[in-house]
Amino acid sequence: MDQVAFGAFFNEELDFHVEGGFDKADVLLFYVLLQTQQAAGVEGDLCELGVHQGRSAIVLGKVKRPNERLFCLGAFDEPEAGVFRAHARRLMPESLATVVEIRVPEPMELAGPPPAMEGATLRFLHLDAGRGHREMLNDLRNFAPLAAGGGILALEGVFDPMSPGVASAMTAFCLSEAGQGFVPFATTPAKAYLCHRPFAPFFQRALVTSGAAGTLSLTDGLGGPVLVCFARAETGPSRDALLAAIG
Ligand SMILES: C[S@@+](CC[C@H](N)C(=O)[O-])C[C@H]1O[C@@H](n2cnc3c(N)ncnc32)[C@H](O)[C@@H]1O
Repeated sequence: MDQVAFGAFFNEELDFHVEGGFDKADVLLFYVLLQTQQAAGVEGDLCELGVHQGRSAIVLGKVKRPNERLFCLGAFDEPEAGVFRAHARRLMPESLATVVEIRVPEPMELAGPPPAMEGATLRFLHLDAGRGHREMLNDLRNFAPLAAGGGILALEGVFDPMSPGVASAMTAFCLSEAGQGFVPFATTPAKAYLCHRPFAPFFQRALVTSGAAGTLSLTDGLGGPVLVCFARAETGPSRDALLAAIG
């Protein structure tokens, strides 16, 4: 699905019909990053923890390759589960056969990925469930080790003043041995995007050249420069200046 068709799908279908807190800024980043991985030959399944009605899961389902699995983890209580399944049937029928629903009523009880994910390698992991420090740290420890080379982790709520535990968990994780060299390489007003350090400039250049990430700036972050996407300022450094600074 090209960017124009994807934009129309979001505006006319997903945004209109599916409730949730998944903003357009992150829809665009998901699209650009997933396409960048595909063009670069990064392989692996996709996974979301915290499905709700499926706004973000359906974006993953629309952009993934046909052979990749989409692990959808959540409580799947009714009526939420029924709403998600109805949206999925209507909006991503082409991906239903590769959606793997995994019922996780309480992620804090997990001490590793669920058995249904055994052997999986993830190229994209969206953590959008518990927002406490211990919950996010547990989710990172359980699922980040499945990340492929060139894999991306997206953490929701990292700048929300109501969920300070997300930022502290991300920091603790990145500084720990279990963090395995992950660094935040980009942010939006809602999310931080992490990858293994050597891949950070590659994804930053892709976001800059995409022209899809709003006003940009580059700032000193945890483990290196972080690209701030959809920055509050009306204008930022030029594309050439950003690319030169990223190197
Ligand atoms: C913000 S919503 C997810 C939004 C969704 N990704 C979207 O695009 O609309 C968070 C989801 O995670 C679930 N959740 C939150 N905290 C949780 C926890 N501690 N354990 C299990 N599920 C949790 C909620 O039930 C909800 O479905």
